[in-house]
Amino acid sequence: MVDKASEKVLSVDELATFCKRKGFVYPSGEIYGGLAGLYDYGHFGTLLKRNFEQTWRNYFLRLADNYVEIEASEIMPEKVFVASGHLKNFNESSAVCKKGHIERADHLLEAKAKKRFEGLTATELFAKIKEQGVMCSTCGGSIEKVEALTMMFPLSLGVVNPTRAYLRPETAQSPYVDFKLQAEVMRKKFPLGIALVGKAYRNEISPRNFILRQRAFTQAELQIFFNPSKINEYEDFGAVSSYHLRVVLSDQREKEIQLITCKDLAKRIPRFYVYHLAKVQQFYLDVLKFPVEKFRLYELDEKERAFYNKYHFDMEANLDTLGWTEIGGVHYRTDHDLKGHQEISKQKLEVFDEESKERFIPHVLELSFGVDRNFYALLNFAYTPDAKRENIVLKLPAFLAPVKVAVFPLISKGSGMELARRVYEELREEFSTSFDVSGSIGRRYARQDEVGTPFCITIDEESVKDKSVTVRERDSTKQIRVKVDALTETLRKLVAGKIAFTKAGKVVETRVK
Ligand code: GAP
Repeated sequence: MVDKASEKVLSVDELATFCKRKGFVYPSGEIYGGLAGLYDYGHFGTLLKRNFEQTWRNYFLRLADNYVEIEASEIMPEKVFVASGHLKNFNESSAVCKKGHIERADHLLEAKAKKRFEGLTATELFAKIKEQGVMCSTCGGSIEKVEALTMMFPLSLGVVNPTRAYLRPETAQSPYVDFKLQAEVMRKKFPLGIALVGKAYRNEISPRNFILRQRAFTQAELQIFFNPSKINEYEDFGAVSSYHLRVVLSDQREKEIQLITCKDLAKRIPRFYVYHLAKVQQFYLDVLKFPVEKFRLYELDEKERAFYNKYHFDMEANLDTLGWTEIGGVHYRTDHDLKGHQEISKQKLEVFDEESKERFIPHVLELSFGVDRNFYALLNFAYTPDAKRENIVLKLPAFLAPVKVAVFPLISKGSGMELARRVYEELREEFSTSFDVSGSIGRRYARQDEVGTPFCITIDEESVKDKSVTVRERDSTKQIRVKVDALTETLRKLVAGKIAFTKAGKVVETRVK
């Protein structure tokens, strides 16, 4: 986030350093030197990540009646990826220099030309590299070849006569292979949504930019199976028809963003798809509270989109120093995957829809989110250096904050301390709560500001007498007095954003910010 006072822009390195210092995210196995592209989430990072994932579930699983969640194996049989096309197509073009250094060819070109090079073949990328005189970024030597390398991690399963298997490169394939069983259980009502939040693994040629390009990362994906004959009619479309989407269209890239109503976009793209674009945008702007101007939906053209997609818009966040960055995608995968699985598994994946009396292989609309990239974006927008306080304030929405409330006794023993412990024990039954007795009150506030705790409570001599505590709001540093008996209920409303802070208690003078 840009700090108005200093016009400071957050670099990837600065955010990574901050995340390590506060124990949010750090390289995995670092005491042994770590491995590129692998990270661990610490205490605060895990809480924030889980809060994001739960917010995602609460929102997307409630989009329709028949949307459910599954958990599935991260190791899958080779045939799954024969059927899905990943074994053949899930490759990345790598540029190899004279000395054998390897780097993603499109990234090398992007660094030189400062524009995207998506959807080019290895041969085309090699020609462009030569044309632009791009050299190896490690040794400065010339690039000798560009070749397509698989991004899948193969495994040998079992000791005697091992079976070839793969770590899944996307969560999506599990809902497809589980579709037949789940559709039976869910009594074949369409649209049927199957969500999965879990790890995906890709042998990235050049992992980079902290958690934005890792080799093991988390996806939150919702596969929506629907009757293809209904792709242009969706009864809920009316609710978004006049809603403005923030898009870049593939044939109008000269505009950085244009606003277009859902009904206008539905003149070129099916309604069922456009409806979900609107729901995705509303998730970012209304639920996660991304700054409006930092979000857009970017349409990919035929050459750029993934091999399984017919329509493809990326969700993008405008991140400090990196610019527009993909954080997810809305993919119309047609019957590509189910048809492939039907053919290779020899299991019938066609269904009979009682409502329409039609028989069909469902088509799939996939809402795909990179959890780590969303995590990064949330931190980027929340990270605010505060010159007056001389510390970072992490201005996360309260419902996402790792810790919701911190309790600070100002008296170290006696009835004041007893009251503080009682308040803490009560609050931690409902909220993630910290208890801090050490250091000056200013230091204690600063510690909580840096991990984004929206509310801090101090308990003083007066509290013992009037059974009230002081609550301090992170962003404004304003303070209110609230009765101990009303504290849990008041915090519940504050965390949910259902009440303005200054209306939640008697405003008192702020002494320590
Ligand atoms: N199932 C569709 C799918 O996997 P994708 O565009 O390849 O589509 C979806 O990946 C999202 O996963 C991306 O938009 C991005 O947010 C995230 N993602 C992909 N590769 C990643 C990586 N190496 N590290 C972190 N996140 C990644």
